[in-house]
Amino acid sequence: MELERIKTIAVIGAGNMGHQISMLCAIKGFKTVCTDISQEMLDKADAFVNSYLDGRVKKEKLTREQAGQARATIRFTTDLEDAVKDADYVIEAAVEVLEIKRRLFADIDRMAPPHAILATNSSAIVSSKIAGATHRPDKIINLHFFNPALVMKLVEVVQGPHVSEQTLKTSMALCDALGKVCVHVKKEVEGFLLNRIFLRIYKEALWMLDMEVASSEDIDKACVYGAGHPLGPFALMDLTGIDLYHTMSMEKFRETGEVAELPSPSIVERYTKGHYGQKTGKGWYDYTQK
Ligand SMILES: NC(=O)c1ccc[n+]([C@@H]2O[C@H](COP(=O)([O-])OP(=O)(O)OC[C@H]3O[C@@H](n4cnc5c(N)ncnc54)[C@H](O)[C@@H]3O)[C@@H](O)[C@H]2O)c1
Repeated sequence: MELERIKTIAVIGAGNMGHQISMLCAIKGFKTVCTDISQEMLDKADAFVNSYLDGRVKKEKLTREQAGQARATIRFTTDLEDAVKDADYVIEAAVEVLEIKRRLFADIDRMAPPHAILATNSSAIVSSKIAGATHRPDKIINLHFFNPALVMKLVEVVQGPHVSEQTLKTSMALCDALGKVCVHVKKEVEGFLLNRIFLRIYKEALWMLDMEVASSEDIDKACVYGAGHPLGPFALMDLTGIDLYHTMSMEKFRETGEVAELPSPSIVERYTKGHYGQKTGKGWYDYTQK
């Protein structure tokens, strides 16, 4: 399927990533349907659309007419079948748990039109682990956006051995149409390009914290003022979600049995208290006063 055939995009999950990917697709003129099992998340995403579009109009980044068009092209539903039945392209951004993703892809495969490409926005799970749950492995691909998806330009497009050249070409063309810069990851490697680098930075930062070499604030300062990173590793974890980092580490531990993959004590402590970062108001930093 060529890019020109993509009129409708379904986004699965309305969390940190899904609500912004949905907004992006709608602004770029695609009919967009966002689905989630949680009505509360969909309500939040719906409210975000209104406030985001208002803000863009106020800042003169969009005309009132463009904002109105984007608002009219996006809708939210808890009904998965309703979301994907007319979709030409599906972007899954549900929780980072392999079994949930495999079940979702099996369902979407039954419900979506046969020509539709089904992409996962997973941070680390390669699509070949999911493709086997469907009858269209050539159309299952990793399309990895970065947080916040409306702002960050990069998308990693990962070509597993099952992915057809056409699926790759159309997915890269779609990223282009969404105004993104995409990189072609030619082989499936866990974590793709950037997260492989960042996970090593996280691990090192957590080790220094747990060994009481320095505070999280000072480690962040070193990365910002010494390496020119826009955010240090702890502030970045707060943005992306400590729960996501915890889940990714646990998935890796389950897969490899390597004790070194287990989340560090300071991650477990925050995870068990529900301190996931910005989305819960507390993580490494306190956001409740802002
Ligand atoms: N947070 C990040 O910085 C980031 C960056 C890039 C990629 N990702 C990836 O994007 C995906 C989503 O991450 P997130 O941070 O948005 O997570 P999140 O926890 O903020 O949101 C996940 C959403 O999925 C919903 N969900 C769970 N099961 C579902 C199902 N069966 N059907 C529909 N919706 C379901 C949840 O209700 C929730 O709203 C993950 O695979 C993650 O690895 C995250």
